[in-house]
Amino acid sequence: MHELSRIIRGMPKSELHLHLEGSIEPELTFRLAERNKVRIPFESVEQLRQAYAFADLQSFLKVYYAGTSVLLKAEDFYDMTRAYLERVALDNVIHTEVFLGPQAHLDRGIAIEAIFEGVIAALDEWGPKLGMSTALLLILQRHQGEEAGTAAYDRAMRYRERIAALGIGGIERGHPPANFARLFARARAEGLHLLAHAGEEGPAEYVAQAVDILGVDRVDHGVRCEEDPALVRRLAEHGIPLTVCPLSNVKLGGVARIEDHNFKRLLDAGVKVTMNSDDPSYFGGYMTDNYLATAEGLGLTVADLHRVAANGFEAAFVPEADRRRMLAALDRFWVAEGLPLPAGATPRS
Ligand code: ADE
Ligand code: ZN
Repeated sequence: MHELSRIIRGMPKSELHLHLEGSIEPELTFRLAERNKVRIPFESVEQLRQAYAFADLQSFLKVYYAGTSVLLKAEDFYDMTRAYLERVALDNVIHTEVFLGPQAHLDRGIAIEAIFEGVIAALDEWGPKLGMSTALLLILQRHQGEEAGTAAYDRAMRYRERIAALGIGGIERGHPPANFARLFARARAEGLHLLAHAGEEGPAEYVAQAVDILGVDRVDHGVRCEEDPALVRRLAEHGIPLTVCPLSNVKLGGVARIEDHNFKRLLDAGVKVTMNSDDPSYFGGYMTDNYLATAEGLGLTVADLHRVAANGFEAAFVPEADRRRMLAALDRFWVAEGLPLPAGATPRS
């Protein structure tokens, strides 16, 4: 495990499924609450952290949306984004794609400018400073419906040039991807990449809808696809990536223990599985923590680690030259560590 742990810590990584609002550590929550004179129903950082125990997605989302109450001004969104980037730089993340969900903030009366301009300023300043490329992903709350989502989309499109993709998250059960068919068709016509949380708590059918009806480029989570073996084969054949978040799935009860996770089964079935942290402050782990827990719990091999990290670069929304550069950085790390490049991996110098 020692060698694996060194490889995991050091290897260049991407993160493709991260909610900025799920990265606010309790210390920052308290600092922003004080700065903005917002009352929060917790006495201390420790007490707030102890409240992070969830039965399921719905009970988590309640705490998660309440946690955004301290974000009022552009500088708050900036501080949140900067703190996340600084933290994942320590995990050797060289490319990250971050979800921003404006509806929770717009509904609290926050100006669209504060939300987007704070986040974009931090991405543009701290990405380069930390040697990291970044992409911004717009995410809508599916439980609020397509009409409300379209209204938020329209307002967010003011920042179209900086937004790489449209996704949906929020309460999954009872809110199938098909509900967003019209908006996704429009977003595709407008040149956005498409994503959907599906098969986290919802059935394999929702994963199929995300692929067949919405035409997504990647499925967020997607782990319940396993209940439909023909769908698993289709995902593998078409190279449709899943942004899997193992510690999130444990925390929200999708699986009882990391040892029960289907991450390796899906990988072995040829699905383009990637590693991600989802809401790291709430789920107790950033990128390295997710890799370590999964590698230990499921016995990932050195070759598996290379595959997963390479999948993360192959699934990223980046120009091809950047993709090649990131894959080459991964291979260089492998060679520098004296590790064998997996058979079939072409040297990318
Ligand atoms: N929003 C933030 N985290 C989420 C998750 N794990 N599933 C759905 N929506 C989310
Ligand atoms: Zn998510």
